[in-house]
Amino acid sequence: MKLFQNHSPSEIQAYPAHVLDDILRFHRALPGYAPTPLISLNGIAGDLGVGRLLVKDEGRRFGLKAFKVLGTSYAVYRVFHERSGGRLEPEEFVGERGRELADGITFSCATDGNHGRAVAWIAGLLERPAVIYVPRGTVPARIDAIQSEGARVVVVDGGYDDAVRRAAEEGKDSRMVIADTAYAGYTEIPRYIQQGYLTIFREVSEQLKKMGEGAPDIVFIQAGVGAFASAAAMFFNSPSDGVRLICAEPQAADCLFQSAKAGDGMPRSVSSGKGTIMAGLNCETPSLTAWPSVRDRFDAFVSMEDDRAREAMIRLAAEDVVSGESGAAGLAALIALCEERPDFLSEELRLRDNARILVINTEADTDPDAYRRIVGFRGN
Ligand SMILES: Cc1ncc(COP(=O)(O)O)c(C=O)c1O
Repeated sequence: MKLFQNHSPSEIQAYPAHVLDDILRFHRALPGYAPTPLISLNGIAGDLGVGRLLVKDEGRRFGLKAFKVLGTSYAVYRVFHERSGGRLEPEEFVGERGRELADGITFSCATDGNHGRAVAWIAGLLERPAVIYVPRGTVPARIDAIQSEGARVVVVDGGYDDAVRRAAEEGKDSRMVIADTAYAGYTEIPRYIQQGYLTIFREVSEQLKKMGEGAPDIVFIQAGVGAFASAAAMFFNSPSDGVRLICAEPQAADCLFQSAKAGDGMPRSVSSGKGTIMAGLNCETPSLTAWPSVRDRFDAFVSMEDDRAREAMIRLAAEDVVSGESGAAGLAALIALCEERPDFLSEELRLRDNARILVINTEADTDPDAYRRIVGFRGN
């Protein structure tokens, strides 16, 4: 494991409560909406010698096995909302009005699996086609899952960045490209996607309140391009509220870690040639719109080996949480810190003894064969 600490995390701009309410109102209007469970992991907490450990199980989001649809659905809604001159209520998105606004559109994106399935699902809701670009080596189960939503899949001979470029190039004239990463000239949709993820933290805070508990003391967030991490930064926007944020990445694709470590504030790309089992995090370049808030607000960046993710998957399975390789990465970083830098949380981050720790299981067994090989039995 490699660790980089940001010694002076700073406050970033918060979203006003009414914006968070509107985002949640939109998600509630989608078919099958239910808050995902917040589960206590007492066994793992005991083993690691930490106070209280909770997992938000996004593997159960809308039956799609990952959190990503929260971002894509909200982005499409916001684009349609603007196209309609501000006259599209959240409740009208799925229905005649949404279908009218989607008329003639082919949706498209690049993905390492989960985002593409989410875009395909939205296209299906709106009764429109989708073309999804995946990097070379994407496992058949992830391709099948996208196709099962009715989309066409194109396998690109290259990595994630190549798939992003191909989707942008081939879609520029005739398709609505829903990229979750922002690059020069393309920032609006990625920003909406980042906002869509806020619902996760909004739900967590309501669930903690119901359990009679306060805010988490520390949150572990796994990152690919950092869009999800930026949502955590926006929600827990001020370090003075006492919530520490830790970014978790695979060593083979640790672009946020490397960017933070470089220390000049600029994002860095890494080569993803080595590969990682954490396919959802196998991204070479931070998102242009996500990076500044992650850079400023996060307390630390962890870059870790694939074996940590395997270990976290097995531990989560023992507590009946089905977690894929990328899904388990937040817990994997906590395990790595507890074992390799046991002083870090208490001394450097000054975490109290029975701190409340939050991890997010961002995906279930999206590669069922690999899941079975690692955990020893089937997931869902
Ligand atoms: C399961 C899973 N977790 C986490 C992430 C990371 O999200 P981001 O790319 O916004 O950092 C992804 C991205 O696709 C993912 O699929």
